[in-house]
Amino acid sequence: MPRTRLARVEDVPENGTLGVKTDGGNYLISKMDGEINVFEGRCTHMKGPLRFGKVIDGSVKCPIHGSRFDLLTGEVTKQVVIPLIGKAKDLKKFPVTIQDGEIYVKE
Ligand code: FES
Repeated sequence: MPRTRLARVEDVPENGTLGVKTDGGNYLISKMDGEINVFEGRCTHMKGPLRFGKVIDGSVKCPIHGSRFDLLTGEVTKQVVIPLIGKAKDLKKFPVTIQDGEIYVKE
């Protein structure tokens, strides 16, 4: 599995997120109290761009229908606001390597 460089640790705002697109993927990097995690960058409901989501109480809020996802685990912390259009699932979380201040994932 190839390893892909996404960003520098210092590029990710503390208790915030950074969206990164590569040839192979669309990622959301979070830094919560210094801990880096990498998730799928599109909402599991209808592919809302999570890089535009607000961070609220340790979760990112999808800008489309308002589901929220925990920024340490990727778990859904609040479901879609409109109940008749399906549900969001937990975000995929990628294995992360940090080396010399650079963040890598396996795609
Ligand atoms: S696309 Fe994200 S909650 Fe619907």
